[in-house]
Amino acid sequence: MSQTINAAITAVHGWTPETVLSNADLCKMVDTNDEWIRSRTGISERRILDKDKGTSHMAAEVIKGLCAARGIEPTEIDLVIVATVTPDMPFPSTANIASDLAGATNAWGFDLEAACSGFLFALNTGAQFIKTGQHKRVCVVGADKMSSIVDYTDRTTCVLFGDAAAGVFLEADTEGLGIQDSILKSDGSGREFLHMKAGGSLNPATAETVAKKMHYLFQDGKPVFKAAVTSMADVSYEIMERNGLSADDVSWLVPHQANMRIIDATARRMGLSTDKVMINIEKYGNTTAATIPLCLYEWSKDLSKGENLILSAFGGGFTWGAIWLKWSLDHSSGTSDC
Ligand code: UT7
Repeated sequence: MSQTINAAITAVHGWTPETVLSNADLCKMVDTNDEWIRSRTGISERRILDKDKGTSHMAAEVIKGLCAARGIEPTEIDLVIVATVTPDMPFPSTANIASDLAGATNAWGFDLEAACSGFLFALNTGAQFIKTGQHKRVCVVGADKMSSIVDYTDRTTCVLFGDAAAGVFLEADTEGLGIQDSILKSDGSGREFLHMKAGGSLNPATAETVAKKMHYLFQDGKPVFKAAVTSMADVSYEIMERNGLSADDVSWLVPHQANMRIIDATARRMGLSTDKVMINIEKYGNTTAATIPLCLYEWSKDLSKGENLILSAFGGGFTWGAIWLKWSLDHSSGTSDC
């Protein structure tokens, strides 16, 4: 009888820039206050990457950290997928640049764009190469330099976002661990509420698009909030229900970190108490594709082999989804502080 092959996480690593942008710092830049930011979003500070570095810098640090954690050379990676909405440039892909910087010279790679759901979409995509046996080791990174597309004169968005990268290795597992199920969704009719207006083929960059600030992230917060609360909670409940998982079966919810109120609503719908939810939004804000793997990295030392995790996200597109996985690492293996 043939064994079922799952894609399992065999290493996890995260990287954040050192520069901190606090709520107090933002109060000096726009008309806002610490109380509004914390009560409406849960954010106290975020990290900002140096101006002269791109997303590939962070992604390369993650690839190097993953190799150190797994005890392998970068040349042993087969495929690198980088989920990002802030590539270094429209082409070549940030995955290609980061692979070069990290020395992953035998890997092919590509970027995947699904905004805040990017890591989930990339994880599911990478898993297919493992399940089919085409590749032995796939590197999936979520990386975003949101500070490169945020307008720091717009108080409605500049308080929300930060820069970070984190990622995992996927390898084959035949013991029933790893990714068990995924539900991924998109609805392009939501694009009007969260997007970047120019810089693509529809509105190429001109002096006018720059003058009109069309190269910054645009968000109409209220409708996004409404859709996020419902969709993220529903899909997280749906993946539990269709797999017969009760709240007791789930060790951790690993939610996209956009807003504490969205995270709370998702946990409530799943019947989970707050102590079973990974939350680091206070320290990093919304780092788009990096939030979920960064949580996995920060909590990895507390996780035990076989624990059920539900990863859940909602983002621009609209895109959203949930992935159920059984954690496959022992407490200290597969993580690195380098
Ligand atoms: O990660 C991808 C998906 N994105 C999300 O999930 C984000 C979803 N949206 C949200 O999280 C929330 O909508 C926000 C945090 C962005 C905004 O919270 P809100 O409770 O929806 O506030 P609001 O936009 O309705 O604004 C309420 C008030 C407004 O003033 P008035 O019109 O009531 O006088 C805003 O002008 O708060 C004002 N405001 C601020 N005040 C102080 C907006 N931004 C700020 C600010 N500081 N930074």
